[in-house]
Amino acid sequence: MTKISQRTGAAATAMLGLGVYRPERVVTNDEVCEVLDSSDEWIQTRSGIRTRRYAGEDETLVEMATRAAQAALEASGVAADELGTVILATSTHAQHTPAAAPIVADKLGSRAAAFDVGAGCAGFCHALSVASDLVRGGNARYVLVIGVEKLSLFLDPTDRGTAFIFADGAGAVVVGPAAEAGIGPVAWGSDGSQSHVITQDRGCRDADAEHPLVVRMEGTAVFRWAPFAMADVAREAVDSAGLTMSDVDAFIPHQANLRITETLARNLKLPEGIAIARDVQDSGNTSAASVPLAIEAMLRKGEAKVGDTALLIAFGAGLSYASQVVTIPPVAGL
Ligand SMILES: CC(C)(COP(=O)(O)OP(=O)(O)OC[C@H]1O[C@@H](n2cnc3c(N)ncnc32)[C@H](O)[C@@H]1OP(=O)(O)O)[C@@H](O)C(=O)NCCC(=O)NCCS
Repeated sequence: MTKISQRTGAAATAMLGLGVYRPERVVTNDEVCEVLDSSDEWIQTRSGIRTRRYAGEDETLVEMATRAAQAALEASGVAADELGTVILATSTHAQHTPAAAPIVADKLGSRAAAFDVGAGCAGFCHALSVASDLVRGGNARYVLVIGVEKLSLFLDPTDRGTAFIFADGAGAVVVGPAAEAGIGPVAWGSDGSQSHVITQDRGCRDADAEHPLVVRMEGTAVFRWAPFAMADVAREAVDSAGLTMSDVDAFIPHQANLRITETLARNLKLPEGIAIARDVQDSGNTSAASVPLAIEAMLRKGEAKVGDTALLIAFGAGLSYASQVVTIPPVAGL
């Protein structure tokens, strides 16, 4: 049998730098309720959301991803032409072909391998794990991971189960070799028997609409699943990193909904003093972008700092989920 050589890469990997892009326009609950049959009070009580951001016409998905990626490259001190791979997680790139990642890579000045990942709101944590393994496996030295969504284009503004929840934004990190491990083993999986719970369908849109699909969600089913099933997954991520909850400085779950975050945190019996990400209050649910946006928000507000140990967990359409313990990297502009 012919012997095929395989590569081996870095012994340890970490996120080297993080960047975000938040769209300009802040949208209040009152503005959402100009069309939606709801109220600011109901939305805040049931979801914690006070405001969210919607991207304008010139803030395309590719543009937001590129801006976040440029910031992540700057924060990490890695040049675009050093990237070996670009992985872009999204559910709202309007075309299957071409993927968004090669377009973003080109805008950055990179000819790296580039592909999109579709794992719903868990896309960033999936891509982060793949990136770490690419560097450890030797197929890339530096990998750019982007989570980006323009969900405002995929909303039915009259749908009481989704219109107030979802929003736009982008976050990116560069993953590369490190002296100490800064990305723990992933705990991940899927439950496709619940694939009907979060979907995209034609909904209210005309067949010839530019973005013909809208997001649909059985919110109560998500609520029954996430805070309970995800507690075991988060515990597995901490165990497999060789840590206990008392080693964790910050809990940064996908910003689905404040009630999910708080129920999950209670179920995890987090020790006193762990900082908990609550960026959903200001940013809404930005799906694959929510975890890097939440990391940036915690650093900006002084709730966490560079070098802290953070427990990430993300979950959503699929149903898909992924969790890992990480070291918080430097963030551009902070
Ligand atoms: C969407 C969500 C906020 C709805 O809250 P809920 O308490 O489950 O709401 P229900 O659908 O059971 O409806 C409860 C009541 O509120 C009303 N209601 C539902 N949506 C409403 C809205 N947007 N505004 C005002 N009232 C609303 C219903 O009509 C119902 O009224 P009734 O009791 O008089 O019949 C909740 O299910 C949720 O947060 N789910 C998780 C969603 C999520 O985070 N997904 C992210 C996936 S990654």
